[in-house]
Amino acid sequence: MTTSTKSREMQAQYAAWPYPQVPLLAALPSTHPWELHVSWLWDRCSSGPAPAKPRIWIAGCGTFQPYAFAVANPHAEIVATDLSEPSLDVARRRCRWHRQRHVRFAPVDLADESTWPDGTFDLIECYGVLMNLADPTTALRRMAQRLTPGGVLRLMLYPHWSRQRVFQLQRVARLCGLGADDRSHPGQLRRFVQKLPKAHPLRYAFTTYADSKNDAGVVDGFLHKGDRGFTGFQLGALLRDAGMTPAYWFHRPWGQPDRMAERLDLQDRSQSFVLNYLDLWHELRANLVVCARRDDAPARVVQAPTPHPLFAQAHPSLRHKLRLARLGLLGGKLPTRTGDEHLVLRPQQVRALAKRADALPQDHPLLLGGKDHGPTLPAHEDFAGEARFLQHAAALRVGQRAPNPLYAHLFAAFELAHLHPELGLPDLEAQVGKWLPWADPLEERPFAFGLTPYGTLQKLRVNVREHLEREPLPVATDYGAVRLRGDATALARTRTLLAAADLPRRDFDDATLRELFVLLMTHDRLFVTFE
Ligand SMILES: C[S@@+](CC[C@H](N)C(=O)[O-])C[C@H]1O[C@@H](n2cnc3c(N)ncnc32)[C@H](O)[C@@H]1O
Repeated sequence: MTTSTKSREMQAQYAAWPYPQVPLLAALPSTHPWELHVSWLWDRCSSGPAPAKPRIWIAGCGTFQPYAFAVANPHAEIVATDLSEPSLDVARRRCRWHRQRHVRFAPVDLADESTWPDGTFDLIECYGVLMNLADPTTALRRMAQRLTPGGVLRLMLYPHWSRQRVFQLQRVARLCGLGADDRSHPGQLRRFVQKLPKAHPLRYAFTTYADSKNDAGVVDGFLHKGDRGFTGFQLGALLRDAGMTPAYWFHRPWGQPDRMAERLDLQDRSQSFVLNYLDLWHELRANLVVCARRDDAPARVVQAPTPHPLFAQAHPSLRHKLRLARLGLLGGKLPTRTGDEHLVLRPQQVRALAKRADALPQDHPLLLGGKDHGPTLPAHEDFAGEARFLQHAAALRVGQRAPNPLYAHLFAAFELAHLHPELGLPDLEAQVGKWLPWADPLEERPFAFGLTPYGTLQKLRVNVREHLEREPLPVATDYGAVRLRGDATALARTRTLLAAADLPRRDFDDATLRELFVLLMTHDRLFVTFE
């Protein structure tokens, strides 16, 4: 079926490691995935009422999503497709086991339109897939053409800045010879990370990553053969080039572009600018999830308020209670990909909501209509200097007290206004002042530096200011072209650390050792010296 190298790589990875790894017995209560109901999604995008028997395409469905969408949309016709046949097999068995019979499965490569299912769809779900494609723009543009006129496409992509720790761990794994092709490598990576100091940012990133609990999740996150993140600008450009407009952001309050633009005094910017800014300051801390419509979709329609269809006749039965109890045994969370924290409703809440549906406040999440939930900022504006800025942020800078590459993403936030005055951002103090009410509760404590630029600045304001005044530093091409201060000792220490670990790779050249030294052993230093 597939031709491109990238597709072949992805097929091999997800055939060996069907994702996500969720027990077949894990059952969703019928009201649990309420945010995946087509009527609710259409309502958030103000497309008017959704069809009574909607067509849904889950493009790159993995092993779980078909079941979640089937539970959420009992009257829909669902087509679930993926590049990995073993993933489709698990998803098919799951639907059969839970008696969800309205899902059809098919192997599909999103990079090859000749394999796609026929017809148009009222909802296309493409969650965590496009970052695996060599050409996401073409795939997205063609998917947009498969939407019905009012249709909605829900898209998830990784954020570029907030995911830097994951990308750094991917790099560590690759340098240590760990990959997706060996069944023992997820365990080896897990054991290696557990040996890092408790307050190491990479260990923190690994242990707090929900998917690190199982091997398929470790591969998908840390041993991936080739995924990537998107900045807010890149996501905006991707949607624009596909002929789509963002209509609803699935983000927690401090990740909502409109709301945060108001709070940070960025109302004259675009959604892509604000998202990039939130991500850069690490306050997004979640994936980019957006519902988008075609640019030529009918005008927005705000309907009269109605209760959520899944709750309108919800009677919490004994069966519902048992399902909730079983869900509790699994940690209360299943990958419905809605990111919502109040997703698990207790039976008495369900009962109350069903009774009081017409008396719910206008912005209650279980109420459809009555309000336009769409963003009001312009969707996208280009940042002409972005490529140069990204290059600068990733560059290896040389000199006394060069910014530690392990913290390059923090420095990028500090440097944005400094390097790009044309953006008209206020100076660092003013930016931090604006963050104050929002950033503080998000900051974690036990680290030498904050987890976010805000937290770091609280501890090292003077040093960061000095750094900004000192820039620009010369740049090196790679770790072969630089020496660390005390190079021989640093290399010897790294060699000893790696020799004591259970890793497939045994021989390391100096450049690799130097890079691993920085990633693994300089976490308590904001600056390092490269000569
Ligand atoms: C990170 S998983 C996400 C799975 C699912 N959407 C979810 O959220 O649970 C990525 C999925 O995309 C699929 N995939 C990767 N490249 C693809 C392609 N070119 N065409 C179709 N599916 C692809 C993989 O097989 C895998 O199941």
